[in-house]
Amino acid sequence: MSEEYGDVYPVEVQLRRPRRVTAADLRKSIALLPGDGIGTEIGAAATEVLRAVGDFEIAEHPIGGASIDAHGTALTDDVLAACRASDAVLLCAVGGPKWDTTDPDAPRPEQGLLGLRKGLGLYANLRPVHPSPALLDASPLRRERIEGTDLLVVRELTGGIYFGESGRDGDRAHDDCVYTTEEIERVARVGFESARSRAGRRGGKGRVTSVDKANVLETSRLWRETVGRVAGDYEDVELEHLLVDNAAMQLVSRPSEFDVILTENLFGDILSDEAAMLTGSLGMLPSASVGSDGPGLYEPVHGSAPDIAGKGIANPLATFLSVAMMLRQAFGLDEEAKRLVGAVDAALEQGLRTPDLAGGESTREVGTEEMTEAVLAAI
Ligand code: IPM
Ligand code: MG
Repeated sequence: MSEEYGDVYPVEVQLRRPRRVTAADLRKSIALLPGDGIGTEIGAAATEVLRAVGDFEIAEHPIGGASIDAHGTALTDDVLAACRASDAVLLCAVGGPKWDTTDPDAPRPEQGLLGLRKGLGLYANLRPVHPSPALLDASPLRRERIEGTDLLVVRELTGGIYFGESGRDGDRAHDDCVYTTEEIERVARVGFESARSRAGRRGGKGRVTSVDKANVLETSRLWRETVGRVAGDYEDVELEHLLVDNAAMQLVSRPSEFDVILTENLFGDILSDEAAMLTGSLGMLPSASVGSDGPGLYEPVHGSAPDIAGKGIANPLATFLSVAMMLRQAFGLDEEAKRLVGAVDAALEQGLRTPDLAGGESTREVGTEEMTEAVLAAI
């Protein structure tokens, strides 16, 4: 401080005078966690895209298996603190056969991701499913079925069976599923708010489909009751309840009729992978995890794909679309986000396909690098 202001001001004034704000202070900081498997490749691709759309401070940290190898744990306190201090977190993927184990005491890469979600208080996970027009024929479902699909899965992310007490005692193991009214209420509000803000683009009333297993589970009955009560504050939004098995079936039989699917942690995990196939590949689905304060976490829904890691053929598009969600939601950069989504569509319209995307006569198979180049050129 004394260097900046010299000694011309008395000490009290020096203390009160704010430091001049420099351009560097206004730069948004991003914690980049590439993780494992294809995470490294698509993390590098995402960095190029970020550099093309803005001036960000990007700091890379290990998570998952990479962190286990370096530090013996999937998420260190330092990395969690660095994520907390950043404006947004971009995570690519964690896990791989190298760290697969059924030993309850061994560290597992997934603990890094779960620790981050819990540590940052990210209780709502948003997974938009909106097939790119160029990919309508890449889905295993017929075009007529998926045309018009534009849904959002709102998955509870820090409760339920993922975080209940668990243990192994000889030949007996248990994972408890616990939910409190408060946990259900706050994620339900995210669901209803999302439906309300999407009502415009759907050209009618927003609708929340709450998914549970209320015919069997007590946590689901509390879920249904609580969501029903919260709905009272959102009379402009329709609410329907579906049992999870029925929802899994309807998701493939009438996907275009869903708007917001609101569900608990485990059901959301399963249904969002199913919903991803509507977009042609799991390699296309982005996500954002948000909490009440602090930075959000942006990540592709796909995993670390160890079978293709290092081959240069991973699909970077889900990560680019996650970056677009970050630009819009974390930084309010709507124009830049739109340009990035447009660039992804443009690369697909040129016929470029990574191997995970089914191709046809007018398409050409490319690797991560060429796909990234095409998106960069279209931005
Ligand atoms: C996801 C993943 C994670 C989850 C795994 C990697 C722990 O499948 O984000 O959907 O189950 O939440
Ligand atoms: Mg999953």
